[in-house]
Amino acid sequence: GTTLGASAAEKGRYFGAAVPAFKLSDSQFTGILDREFNAITPENEMKWDATEPSQNQFNYNGGDQIVTHAQAHGMKVRGHTLLWHAQQPGWAQNLSGTALRNAAMNHVTQVATHYKGKIYAWDVVNEAFADGTSGGRRDSNLQRTGNDWIEVAFRTARTADPGAKLCYNDYNTDGVNAKSTGVYNMVRDFKSRGVPIDCVGFQSHLGTSLPGDYQANLQRFADLGVDVQITELDITQGTNQANMYAAVTKACLAVTRCTGITTWGVRDSDSWRGSDNPLLFDANGNKKAAYTSTLNAL
Ligand code: XIL
Repeated sequence: GTTLGASAAEKGRYFGAAVPAFKLSDSQFTGILDREFNAITPENEMKWDATEPSQNQFNYNGGDQIVTHAQAHGMKVRGHTLLWHAQQPGWAQNLSGTALRNAAMNHVTQVATHYKGKIYAWDVVNEAFADGTSGGRRDSNLQRTGNDWIEVAFRTARTADPGAKLCYNDYNTDGVNAKSTGVYNMVRDFKSRGVPIDCVGFQSHLGTSLPGDYQANLQRFADLGVDVQITELDITQGTNQANMYAAVTKACLAVTRCTGITTWGVRDSDSWRGSDNPLLFDANGNKKAAYTSTLNAL
């Protein structure tokens, strides 16, 4: 193929980008998006603070704009994210215990029901594991409602939208390490007990080197019987950027259950990572060396 999306599709995969709703009116941005990508993740518009700014008052404007654009262009949508310790509305930050648990699961039901039938995969829970060597859960208001909050969220999401693939998504889980092994043990436990989990997202916000066991880590999760996806890829610009993009792409293609790759933005100027210039297009919308190496790897 001659574009990222078409080439990925030839391999039975998608190639996506994170998109903020306000950039859908930037014609340079949408020109690249619609030419090169066949999946979209809303960058912020489906997060809790955006979708439920006041308790039980839902705002789907931004998310709906993105879904409409995706459907008009035949793109998949990754829903991001139903529950996360960050970007919570103030009212939720001020709740705890049963009140927070009930509010959180109501949020899952309402948002997943609103988007029912329109989402390829939901990041049901984002970033619930701690950094470092503990392999355990991150402390958060949600975790303090009880260790079963994650499985209850997955069961609640399945009931609301049985057609969406349900993912757990995290960062610094890109190689085999204590954190990724903690997630691995949770997924293995969920599969053994029939908790409905279909996929694991590896954010892959990468610096200047790729873990040597990146592909092996994807494979060990796939071997548990879940799909894996590269969900928020961006890589610090440097001598190695183009090679690393190619290596990530090849790793996904080498894992049968790796179903797609998403970059966290389109142009370097769209990136949340300031001056790292971590994406495939420069600020003027030109293809970078990393674009070419990615396309050639597909
Ligand atoms: C980031 C967005 O890109 C920013 O616009 C926002 O200010 C903060 O969140 N992990 C995630 C994403 O799962 O939701 C984050 O997105 C980046 C880190």
